[in-house]
Amino acid sequence: MDHLQRALDIAGELYKKTITHDWASVHKEGKTQFLLPKECITGHVEGQTLKTLVHMSQARRILEIGMFTGYGALSMAEALPDDGCLVALELEAYLKEFAQPIFDKSPHGKKIIVKIGSALDTLKELAKAGEQFDMVFIDADKPNYINYYRLILDNNLLRLRGVICVDNSLFKAKVYLKMSLIIMPWHCGISMILSPKILV
Ligand SMILES: C[S@@+](CC[C@H](N)C(=O)[O-])C[C@H]1O[C@@H](n2cnc3c(N)ncnc32)[C@H](O)[C@@H]1O
Repeated sequence: MDHLQRALDIAGELYKKTITHDWASVHKEGKTQFLLPKECITGHVEGQTLKTLVHMSQARRILEIGMFTGYGALSMAEALPDDGCLVALELEAYLKEFAQPIFDKSPHGKKIIVKIGSALDTLKELAKAGEQFDMVFIDADKPNYINYYRLILDNNLLRLRGVICVDNSLFKAKVYLKMSLIIMPWHCGISMILSPKILV
């Protein structure tokens, strides 16, 4: 119970630290390439949903594309076994500095490995190294979603019966504006809907 309470407290601390941070100043000072809105954060409901998906799929290795301050990463890491691993890809080096001290405090933080750089480049490196994942969470720049999806499948980054979760795939229902929906192939553990009109 102490362990659980500690994890909850640390997630709360991370959430508070994220929403109170002065992201505009950080960007103005040139510490981030982009102005990162605090609303980027996954938040409690989505974090718990992701955690449930990790439990349900019994994933041991997770890939997150787009970490921000690590709320989603930490939520998913909580559901991983002790020897599980989550590789989080993030463009902004500042975010690793921001998240790492909190990861270090958490009993689950040691499962998280942060890789800084363009996710497309890092994915290619992971593929070259023969890495594979049971679950992938795509939550970065929307125009590249389709490229991430293709790169993952074309390079065997997803294990057989693995799951790809895509954040904001309905994109505030804008997908319905252009009537072109694709249901992801059956081998994904869960179905997702993407709109090529928005994603490419
Ligand atoms: C919506 S936020 C991610 C939220 C995060 N999953 C969470 O749990 O709070 C999107 C993140 O993707 C990152 N990002 C955007 N483009 C990227 C790229 N090309 N490569 C890697 N990360 C990228 C942004 O810097 C930002 O931190």
